[in-house]
Amino acid sequence: MRTSLTLFAAADIARHIEGLTDLIHACILDGASIGFIVPHSRAESEAFWRNKVLPAVRDGARLLLVAWRDDRIAGSVQLDYDTPANQPHRAEIRKLLVHPDFRRQGIARELMAEIERHAVQLKRSLLTLDTRTGDSAEPLYRSLGYLTTGIIPGYCRDTLTERLDATTIMYKNL
Ligand SMILES: CC(C)(COP(=O)(O)OP(=O)(O)OC[C@H]1O[C@@H](n2cnc3c(N)ncnc32)[C@H](O)[C@@H]1OP(=O)(O)O)[C@@H](O)C(=O)NCCC(=O)NCCS
Repeated sequence: MRTSLTLFAAADIARHIEGLTDLIHACILDGASIGFIVPHSRAESEAFWRNKVLPAVRDGARLLLVAWRDDRIAGSVQLDYDTPANQPHRAEIRKLLVHPDFRRQGIARELMAEIERHAVQLKRSLLTLDTRTGDSAEPLYRSLGYLTTGIIPGYCRDTLTERLDATTIMYKNL
C-alpha cells in the first residue's frame, strides 16, 4: 500500500481536524509518551491541534507533515523551527505519530526522511529531539543516524500510570 505525504497549511489543519484528532487520541490511549496523560478526552486532543499546532504553522514557526493511507491520516511529524536567534541552524523534531492501525509499515521512516529534506531546505543542519527511553522510537531514530547525547532519569510521567520515566536526548547533523 502506498503512503502519500502532504505538508499541511493552517487551513488544512482545520479541514482535517477529525483525522488529526483520531491520530493523536489513538496514540495517547495506546500509551504513547507525547506530553499527555490519561484520562484524556477527544476535545483535549482536538484542542492540541487547534491551539498549539495551527497557530505555529500559520505563523511560520512549524511544519506539519502528514502521512495518508488512502483517505485516512495514518501519521504525522512536526518540525519546530522557531529557534532563538543564536540557533538559526537548528530545529526540533516534535511528535512523530503513527496511528496504531498503521504501525510497522515504514510510515515513520518515510515521514522522517521527508521532514529532514524540508529541514535542509530551511537551512537547518542540526536536528534535536527527545524520546522516552526504551520506546520503539529510540531504535528508529538510531537507525536514522540520530546520536544519543544523554538520558535524564525521571523526566516525565507515564501516560497510563504514575511511574516516572527517563527521556533520551538525541541529535543529528544533516
Ligand atoms: C514510534 C512510531 C512513530 C514508529 O512508527 P512506525 O511507522 O510503526 O515505524 P516504522 O514502521 O517506520 O519502523 C521503523 C523502525 O522503527 C523501529 N520500530 C518501530 N516500531 C517498533 C517496535 N514496536 N519495536 C521495536 N522497534 C520498532 C524499528 O527499527 C523499525 O524498523 P524495522 O521495521 O525495519 O525493524 C510509532 O510506534 C508511534 O507512533 N508510537 C507512538 C508515538 C511515539 O512514541 N512517537 C515518538 C515520539 S518521540
